[in-house]
Amino acid sequence: MNKKIVLVAFIVCAVLLLGQTIYSCTNNSKNETLASVDSVKIELGRYLFFDRRLSVNNTRSCATCHNPQFAFTDGYKRSLGVYADLHQRNTQPLFNLSYLKYFTAADSTLHSPLQQMDNPLFNNHPAEMGVKGNEEKILEKITADENYKQLFAEAKTDISWTNIKNFISLFINSLKSGDSPYDKFKSGDSTALNPSQKRGRQLFFSAEIKCASCHGGFNFSTPSVTNEKGDTLFYFNTGLFNIDGKGAYPPYDEGLFHLTKNKTDMGRFRVPSLRNLAFTAPYFHDGSAASLTEVIEAYSNGGRKIEDGIYKGDGSKNPYKHAFISGFSISAADKINLINFLQSLSDTGFINNPAYQNPFSYDETKRSSILQYLNYCMKITVLLFISSAAFYSPVTTKHRLQEMEITTMKMF
Ligand code: HEC
Ligand code: HEC
Repeated sequence: MNKKIVLVAFIVCAVLLLGQTIYSCTNNSKNETLASVDSVKIELGRYLFFDRRLSVNNTRSCATCHNPQFAFTDGYKRSLGVYADLHQRNTQPLFNLSYLKYFTAADSTLHSPLQQMDNPLFNNHPAEMGVKGNEEKILEKITADENYKQLFAEAKTDISWTNIKNFISLFINSLKSGDSPYDKFKSGDSTALNPSQKRGRQLFFSAEIKCASCHGGFNFSTPSVTNEKGDTLFYFNTGLFNIDGKGAYPPYDEGLFHLTKNKTDMGRFRVPSLRNLAFTAPYFHDGSAASLTEVIEAYSNGGRKIEDGIYKGDGSKNPYKHAFISGFSISAADKINLINFLQSLSDTGFINNPAYQNPFSYDETKRSSILQYLNYCMKITVLLFISSAAFYSPVTTKHRLQEMEITTMKMF
């Protein structure tokens, strides 16, 4: 009878220990494949970017609003914060960030993701992730996670907000997109664009339509338009609204004017990239255009005419509108060709890149606490079995079992 109890105790202990060893081995092998400390840091940034525990109520990670399947946007007109408050803007996509001189749609003081990141993390208008005032509480959630303990140790650094921000920044700076059909065409594959897209390309770069003067460079976000002093302009009013007939934009977002209070900055926004438009609808700073057809209509009209509703007005008569938004008349077929060309700047390899996807294969907001609980239960069970086995067994084995008990105690 006693021997049976000892046998059962050993089998149960062996199974539990084997389980834990297999778990820690799979966890380790995942991280051991990382080549260097730098790649560990990017990998850490990826985990943190996708981790909803970084928000006060575990509902929002960066990726909730910046989803890789939508080229790191969210598909909403304007995004929703951690308490479901409406943000003033449409979510910007994240790729080729090193090409941006200014960050966000209308803030000429932000020049890097590191500076910009304080907005979603710490802003309260509206709270995007609600970290402000909860810094310690959120840091504790991250510190309690075994995977982070291990990754931060491999990165040879401590878990702090500064490091969290640095590593997320490294991850988002690593997001590169440049393998669209248009890129293939540029590198010599003349079949990568169809005839309609080739015609659209001619229109896009034509002097008559002028798209490329503002949407220039590799990222289609670098303007070459200058003012009378010869300085390059980065922000433009494209005549999307004209509520009062004097150029007003809706009060929820008046563009650069909000920052500078200079009337000529009314409705001026940064030139966005035109890459990956197939995944980033709806368009414009507030998501107010549902489709590229609506965008092209606004440009060909020399500004957007809104027929009814509270934002009614003729944007083509906006006094702050840039002179290049003067309208053009092209055939309906050419409008479609232009749209087809814009679509050819979309890079499916980018949105499906395995290095950019969610690294959590489980619900990260639950996993750590359950794991810790299971781990704790397992250790108690092992201790109980060894104690009872020691109690019932003959003296010689008793001594050995007591040694095992001491070893098990050290596991706590
Ligand atoms: C609630 C939704 C939401 C969350 C959460 C969020 N963002 Fe954003 N993000 C936005 C919106 C909206 C914008 C556009 C802001 C603007 O133009 O003023 C934006 C813009 C950005 C930009 C600027 C891109 C550019 O082209 O200038 C970066 C970088 C960025 N977010 C990174 C992050 C990071 C990193 C996190 C997590 C720490 C994060 N975001 C969390 C909604 C969100
Ligand atoms: C005078 C500079 C200028 C010219 C010329 C111009 N754009 Fe733009 N474009 C902008 C600015 C600025 C925005 C952002 C407007 C906003 O959100 O309020 C924009 C936005 C867009 C968007 C929406 C992108 C998004 O992600 O929301 C598309 C698409 C677009 N432009 C295509 C074109 C095409 C096609 C042409 C040529 C017919 C063109 N643009 C000509 C400055 C320009």
